[in-house]
Amino acid sequence: MKRLFELVAPHWRRIALAGACSLIVSGANGSIAWLVKPAVDKIFIAGDRGFLAMLSVAVFVIFILRGGFTYLQNYLMRSSGVKIARDIRNNLYRHFLYLPMSHYSKSSTGAMMSRALNDAAVIQELLAYTVRDFFVQTGTIVVLITVAFYVRWDLTLIALVVLPGAFYFASRLGKRLKKVSMRAQQKISGITESLSEGLSGVKVIKAFSMEEPEALRFKEKNQDYYRELMRSTRIFEASALIMEFTGGIGIAFVLWYGSSLIFDKTITAGGFFSFITAVLMIYTPAKRLTQVNNALQQASAAMDRIDALSKEPVEADGNIQLKEINEITFRNVSFKYEGKEEDALNGINLNIKKGEVAALVGRSGSGKTTLVDLVAGFYAPTSGSILINGIDINSVSKKSLRSQIGIVSQDVILFNDTLKANIAYGRPDAPEGEALRAAKAAYAHDFIERLPEGYNTGIGQRGVRLSGGERQRISIARAVFKNPPVLILDEATSALDTQSEMIVQKALDNLMTGSGAGLDAARTVFVIAHRISTIKRADRIVVLDKGRIVEEGSHDELIKLNGHYKMLYTLQFGGEVTTGTGGEA
Ligand SMILES: Nc1ncnc2c1ncn2[C@@H]1O[C@H](COP(=O)(O)OP(=O)(O)OP(=O)(O)O)[C@@H](O)[C@H]1O
Ligand SMILES: [Mg+2]
Repeated sequence: MKRLFELVAPHWRRIALAGACSLIVSGANGSIAWLVKPAVDKIFIAGDRGFLAMLSVAVFVIFILRGGFTYLQNYLMRSSGVKIARDIRNNLYRHFLYLPMSHYSKSSTGAMMSRALNDAAVIQELLAYTVRDFFVQTGTIVVLITVAFYVRWDLTLIALVVLPGAFYFASRLGKRLKKVSMRAQQKISGITESLSEGLSGVKVIKAFSMEEPEALRFKEKNQDYYRELMRSTRIFEASALIMEFTGGIGIAFVLWYGSSLIFDKTITAGGFFSFITAVLMIYTPAKRLTQVNNALQQASAAMDRIDALSKEPVEADGNIQLKEINEITFRNVSFKYEGKEEDALNGINLNIKKGEVAALVGRSGSGKTTLVDLVAGFYAPTSGSILINGIDINSVSKKSLRSQIGIVSQDVILFNDTLKANIAYGRPDAPEGEALRAAKAAYAHDFIERLPEGYNTGIGQRGVRLSGGERQRISIARAVFKNPPVLILDEATSALDTQSEMIVQKALDNLMTGSGAGLDAARTVFVIAHRISTIKRADRIVVLDKGRIVEEGSHDELIKLNGHYKMLYTLQFGGEVTTGTGGEA
């Protein structure tokens, strides 16, 4: 609850103003009811025509006032809700981006999306209204009770003695409601997940003719969500029902006792009816107040889910700024992914000097990608240490480290933006010429030029409109554009045909050597190589097996060893000497 009030606090002025507006609206409602008495007495009974004209004007003015203030209060409330949700989304997304990579390997992005979309929406719909209602209804009740006490304090006590009981039951419902709401929000997060997964994997679904089964699976999840929502609706409305019941009991009691007072002549009929009116009027705001509690419980369920994510610690960062990277050292490094049994890397010792080209080879799952991910600081070693220029990587500023590393990863990620923006990612105001040069070096210029809008062509989401090889060349161009002193290349060529593989290979050569783009030549390169030509260019080949370095040396040395490398080499390349066949090792 404290968190909820923190969220609302910055908007208190709007909400207070909306509260004032809604008081005016209730005032208008009250005066309409109040006008009924003179309307009946003066117009119908006394036949006063002059008063009729006045009354018509008054009613007209009251309706205009009521309409205007209703508009204003709704606008203010809605805008506060929307602002609160907007702020939640902004904060969450920023937080998501700063979460460590390990968070992403353990939790689904669909669930995270659902926090930012659905949970924020629940808060948007409920929170601001709830806070206003809380103050307005409490105020109304206090006023009415004061009036009722003033008229007959003993009767008021009798009428209200049932209220605490009602509030008690309603609050118990509220607790259940929170649980059910929590479940409903979990269900909708499953739905978000299915949607994003299904839509991005639609090709596979079609290929297996799984449209119907997938639609059914979705339908079931959706039905689950529907059930939870209906459950929460029933609980929500039940509290109103409780209020009606207890109201009925209270009023029946007062009628019975009050009437006996009239018979005893201790109270006048008029006094009794004005009292009854006040008591009757208390029950409506009291009912609203129990719903305030319900809405708060629902909002707090959503808030708990959001908070659980916001409390996830962000990526650890050091504060030593790296100016350059001269040496990268792995000292007895082991690494295990969270939740995994086995180490992905085990006892790695490695020293790479500036300008060196190290090729990592090994079977699929041997830990190659993991090793380079550690170099970029995406994960921290579980034990041992990585030193950059002799400084522990944990004390180095991530930003200064990554600004010197270029990564061409196994799976190409392009953003839904123009080609130029994708190439010049991170420096949107860079001169067009630079992006052009990078694209040329990456052999991407030609196909880009042939596109209808050239460099300004937008890529559909996830780059569906580009071929695999084209996408790879864009990601190479992005690395060329960055011109990083340290380069991490995770070759993935299995998806390419021989010709596009050759082009990609040439592009990678340009990137590694710096030729064709006027880049610095002394580049430190980690290359996860599937091609013999790349491997042969390396100063050093590091052979990984089950997370351990099993062999290290030059191509010729390793062939002579007649061990892991020799086997990989014959398996993968069949002894071929020029370009390899690609494919997973
Ligand atoms: N995000 C992750 N979460 C949990 N385990 C992971 C994750 N990424 C990789 N692994 C596991 O760590 C081990 C090493 O994986 P890694 O991706 O480093 O292999 P690789 O050598 O790059 O393989 P490939 O040649 O197929 O790309 C594997 O057993 C893999 O299942
Ligand atoms: Mg890999």
